[in-house]
Amino acid sequence: PESMTVQEFAKIMGKTAAEVIKKLMNYGILATINQEIDADTATIIATDFGFEVTVEKEEKEDIWLTEETPDDPETLEPRPPIVTVMGHVDHGKTSLLDAIRQTNVTATEAGGITQHIGAYQVEHHGRKITFIDTPGHEAFTAMRARGAQVTDIAILVVAADDGVMPQTIEAINHAKAAGVPIIVAVNKIDKPNAQPDRVKQQLTEYGLIPEAWGGDTVFVEVSALKKIGIEELLEMILLVSDLKELKANPNKPARGTVIEAQLDKGRGPVATVLVQSGTLNVGDAVVVGLTYGRVRALVDDKGRRVKKATPSMPVEVLGLNDVPSAGDILVVVEDEKTARTLAEKRQNQKREEELRASNKVSLEDLFKHI
Ligand code: GTP
Ligand code: MG
Repeated sequence: PESMTVQEFAKIMGKTAAEVIKKLMNYGILATINQEIDADTATIIATDFGFEVTVEKEEKEDIWLTEETPDDPETLEPRPPIVTVMGHVDHGKTSLLDAIRQTNVTATEAGGITQHIGAYQVEHHGRKITFIDTPGHEAFTAMRARGAQVTDIAILVVAADDGVMPQTIEAINHAKAAGVPIIVAVNKIDKPNAQPDRVKQQLTEYGLIPEAWGGDTVFVEVSALKKIGIEELLEMILLVSDLKELKANPNKPARGTVIEAQLDKGRGPVATVLVQSGTLNVGDAVVVGLTYGRVRALVDDKGRRVKKATPSMPVEVLGLNDVPSAGDILVVVEDEKTARTLAEKRQNQKREEELRASNKVSLEDLFKHI
């Protein structure tokens, strides 16, 4: 075991708890009989008692299902690219997506500020592209990081009248950390004070050098407002994604990532999930972080009920017992009982960890006193 109480440990040693407590006291630690000691600490105390200790690593059940079985290359099929739109606040990310989707989300946002992640799928020349809109406001770093992690390509939106700003740089760092190629969309070129070349100049400092200047970064000049350069941007996205040969196996139980989740008054817990492999079906039993359930309904980005979601598709998942956290992995399992058991084991593990963290003698404590 990873840890045990002083009493359990004493029993194994064939000593009294008092003797163990005394030994711990030699290290300046006041422990109680029910206090947990970790394996390293136990090793030191056992050695003090004259035992020779060999540590065996226990084979642990993978209750978090972190490992995905690799797919046979023959099962892989092309999937749409997942494209995350990032950039400084008000540089026009949502407007750009509105122009691409021919919608008007910007108009419905409170104060014109995006406060959550939006996920949409569009079709261009018969090919699907999944877009993720992220907030540019400085308060939403975690959401940007999450957006960068699930994506294949990052669109860095920089307003030509404002230039490189703090969250522009932050977005570059997120994309680089996630190893994702960046396409720069220099926006608002319709403005009289637009200086697209200044933006290009500024970005060279961050290693983003236009092809025309001998670099390898794709720059597209756009106006979300006047719908200039949209077609070219979409072409570039497809070009860059073709180079990546994005594939997934759609013919297996789904795995996906929660991009956001909330409690809806009428519908209960709702999780927006980006399916990454396999196909998610209505009726599937799922475990999502600490939550579980049977998929009661799937709703696509246009608010339509769908029966299934294939790789790269964002869907709202209804039917979970509770609200999962953004970033949680959704995994389809055999049946609801399995899902529930896993979720309960996870909850227990988490609870135990929290408890242990507050009531534990660790190796660190020992060394503090030596
Ligand atoms: P956050 O999500 O809060 O970070 O903002 P955002 O990057 O999504 O910007 P948003 O699309 O909300 O646009 C901000 C403002 O810029 C709005 O008033 C838009 O109308 C305006 N805007 C966006 N694109 C253009 C453009 O191409 N030209 C001009 N002139 N204005 C634009
Ligand atoms: Mg926005």
